[in-house]
Amino acid sequence: MCGIVGYVGDRKAFPILVNGLKRLEYRGYDSSGVALSQNGEITLFKKQGMVKEMEDHALEHDTSGSSGIAHTRWATHGEPSDENSHPHLSNSGNLVLVHNGIIENYQSLKKLLLDKGYTFQSETDTEILVNLIQYVQEQESCELRKAVRLALTQVVGAYAICIYDKSYPEDIVVAKLGSPLVIGLGVNEKFIGSDATPFLEYTKEVIYLEDGEMASVSATEDLDIRLIDTNKEVDGKIHQLEMDLESIEKGGYDYFMMKEIYEQPRAIYDTFRGRLLADKGMIKMSGLEEYSDRFRTADRIIITACGTSWHSALVAEYLFEEFARVPVEVEYGSEFRYRNPIIRKNDIIIAISQSGETADTLAAIKMAKKAGALVFGICNVPGSTISREAHAGAYTHAGPEIGVASTKAFTSQITVLTMMALELGKIRGEFSTSEYRALLRELSVIPKKIETVLESIDLIEDIATQYKDATNALYLGRGVNFPIALEGALKLKEISYIHAEGYPAAEMKHGPIALIDENMPVFVVAPNNGHYEKLVSNVQEVKARSGKVIAVVTKGDTEIRNAADHVIEIPETLEALTPLLTVVPLQLLSYFIAVMRGCDVDRPRNLAKSVTVE
Ligand code: AGP
Repeated sequence: MCGIVGYVGDRKAFPILVNGLKRLEYRGYDSSGVALSQNGEITLFKKQGMVKEMEDHALEHDTSGSSGIAHTRWATHGEPSDENSHPHLSNSGNLVLVHNGIIENYQSLKKLLLDKGYTFQSETDTEILVNLIQYVQEQESCELRKAVRLALTQVVGAYAICIYDKSYPEDIVVAKLGSPLVIGLGVNEKFIGSDATPFLEYTKEVIYLEDGEMASVSATEDLDIRLIDTNKEVDGKIHQLEMDLESIEKGGYDYFMMKEIYEQPRAIYDTFRGRLLADKGMIKMSGLEEYSDRFRTADRIIITACGTSWHSALVAEYLFEEFARVPVEVEYGSEFRYRNPIIRKNDIIIAISQSGETADTLAAIKMAKKAGALVFGICNVPGSTISREAHAGAYTHAGPEIGVASTKAFTSQITVLTMMALELGKIRGEFSTSEYRALLRELSVIPKKIETVLESIDLIEDIATQYKDATNALYLGRGVNFPIALEGALKLKEISYIHAEGYPAAEMKHGPIALIDENMPVFVVAPNNGHYEKLVSNVQEVKARSGKVIAVVTKGDTEIRNAADHVIEIPETLEALTPLLTVVPLQLLSYFIAVMRGCDVDRPRNLAKSVTVE
């Protein structure tokens, strides 16, 4: 996710653009930039780091100009750096563009342009796009809007773009497919944003571009909206904004955590993008391919992480051993770094970290690197310390995760780990092509199945009202859903402050069953897979001791439905993929209970989003 802002009108553009970027920093904050139109030229200020750093740099220069475009970045292609920040100029220097999204076929477009003599200053897909538009404009000898339209018909991917020609700076061309873009209608001025927060104080009248639409935005002319593929004129619907600044940043949700729970389908699609090619029966992961020999011959994989990321590591243990038949050990970063472990050169260490800055995990991989092991990082923040310390890696593309309680990063981590386990299994010859293709097809529809789970939100909220005053809770799961029991317990305790424990369900009889009484809610993760019959017995054991059972079951379940106090259904899927579905009801339950208890869901007491100290 990135944030884009544009302005054209009579005011000084720079403060509007910069303040707009600051309001969009929740969408990405690793670098930013502004392009101003000054005396028929383009003045560019762009810098790695927070918006404030770019602003201070720009204020040492002339920041005049009454039109411009701006961008705050969440890196996808090309690490955070001054060169990779937006806006990007075309080779001619006449065109300047900002982009939110991913151009999937940028490599083939780059090759086409290189063959035509184009050069590139950055590693971004965006710089390819602005030069493709220049190329088309020159080939067709046409005005900018037509060149944009023709160029976009050659693009595969997602985009929200602003572009202008330095000769016509009062006419910004915008286009949208898959990423948001909204236009604010002022009096003799117009605003552009990824959402309306950049210009809320100037106008409440907005038009949301729809997918496949583009527009010419000028200060005084009416908006001219067209369809990209046919150039047919479109009447934009004018909306009167009601939301305040904060609620727009949260997309209308009360807390970032709920917004991020709902973003999980998109985050998983974005994590698939360019990697999961289910129709072709392929997975492409460059970081894995680069070290495929090391992974093929590895005697052991050690996965190190903390907190929720440690839970995704536990899920990966089941997946890697199931699909790739390679021994896996999971280690807390904090324990691994001090235990003086045996690490062999043929070991592979996978480090999982949403922030990429967790001190214990970072220390663990530095130790592993010294021992000669290959370190593979799975992070959500491009250019983060752990991602740079690792020899190779794969980013989750969940976008910035603002809520302290990790949700979309967790399911995106499991998505990456599942693709790795499947690809490793194939590299190591562990399953037939037909089995492999079936797994890829089922994985590809998981985002849709998460959307189905989210439809149970009212039922989940109602269940939460009945357990919001609990003082303790027990979470049970088996197999690949045992880590989900741990994750559900962590979610509840970290945002509602209710003591909660996750346990392998079979462990009940070795102690926890002594805790069961009518005041103990027991959340049981019980999809209709391998361990189902044993979980039915566990539910009955709890009920026999007056415990309350809330079970996550597969749609159509009857046995557990008859025994439990409440059931929340998930769609049928393969056992190995159930964690991506079973965790969602537990995320929502913890969210609602925390809200009902008046807790600050996004900023729980004593916690930080990234624990960069020991
Ligand atoms: C999860 O909800 C918590 N915020 C916390 O356990 C977190 O997962 C842990 O601190 C690890 O953070 P990381 O993924 O950024 O390394």
